[in-house]
Amino acid sequence: SDMEKGTYAHYMLKEIDEQPFVIRNIIQKYQDDDNEIKLSDDIRAALNGADRLYIIAAGTSYHAGLVGKEMMEKAAGKPTEVHIASEFLYNQPLLSRNPLFIFISQSGETADCRGVLVNVKEAGHPSLTITNVPGSTLSREADYTLHTYAGPEIAVASTKAYTAQMAVLAVLAMDSARAAFGDTEFDAIYELSIAANAMEVLCDAKDDMEQIARDYLFETRNAFFIGRSFDYHVVQEGALKLKEISYIQAEGFAGGELKHGTIALIEDGTPVIAVVTQENVELNTRGNLQEVVARGAHPCVVSMEGCHREDDQVVIPSVHPYLTPLVSVVPLQLISYYAALHHGCDVDKPRNLAKSVTVE
Ligand code: G6P
Repeated sequence: SDMEKGTYAHYMLKEIDEQPFVIRNIIQKYQDDDNEIKLSDDIRAALNGADRLYIIAAGTSYHAGLVGKEMMEKAAGKPTEVHIASEFLYNQPLLSRNPLFIFISQSGETADCRGVLVNVKEAGHPSLTITNVPGSTLSREADYTLHTYAGPEIAVASTKAYTAQMAVLAVLAMDSARAAFGDTEFDAIYELSIAANAMEVLCDAKDDMEQIARDYLFETRNAFFIGRSFDYHVVQEGALKLKEISYIQAEGFAGGELKHGTIALIEDGTPVIAVVTQENVELNTRGNLQEVVARGAHPCVVSMEGCHREDDQVVIPSVHPYLTPLVSVVPLQLISYYAALHHGCDVDKPRNLAKSVTVE
């Protein structure tokens, strides 16, 4: 209702703004009185007992899973695969000896995920659901549940659930790293508090984001997003947000892959939005941007303090390299929002989409 939206024109904008608070809430919920990570012994045993994690999800939750895999493998050395639920359902890959299935689902009701869970249970494998709705189908039917504590997400396009899912995955990665190595360089709890502050800075920069939407997206029919490593995962989500709510054709690409086909689509004025937060691939992505600029592209750079250039359009505050997606997604969400608004789209209820898809 309008009451719950308060002064916000749309739930989506309200939910974007809630993200720093959601992350701080997650920090509280997953910390005990001794500032240690709070997780049940059962869930710890399931995580540590698994020789490989299989993350199953759809849509935005799948994009959170891609980042989760990076954190699990890089921080904890835990082999992790991420699968689109509807693909896994009919084309199951070979499994390891002791798999743990992790379902990521805002609603906990996505039928494609449920289909996989039914098979997983039948095969006797353990399962954990990370969801915003405890008591949902996936939560009830999996062995274990972790709550993302994002509060109700009303807008069809997911925002705060995505960042909340990645925050919970960061906590799990830190806990797994401790279990594996005794200690870890990755202090997820501390780093998440830094990330929450950085998200707040971006939420306060709405006027700048509206201006970027105006400069890049008001007149265009398509837009490309590029990034590498963690930035590749977040640009996939950025592109999904833009197409979902503004109906601008958008795609997120690995920077180095553009030249293998997609660069043929670059024309005079085609917007190319690059996310550049990872030091080891900064120059590679900037090089890719030069390649498209040489073909007429209109470049927009979202970078991070420490690897920024003076003329970058958005510079996010410095955060841990694993947590950059939580922060760099905020400007991407906001520019999508303002592009959709300009086009007169129904931001909270885009055509053809449903908040939770309970049919296959
Ligand atoms: C629908 C929604 C998406 C969402 C996806 C997965 O397609 O429109 O925003 O990401 O389902 O939903 P889930 O509830 O499983 O995260």
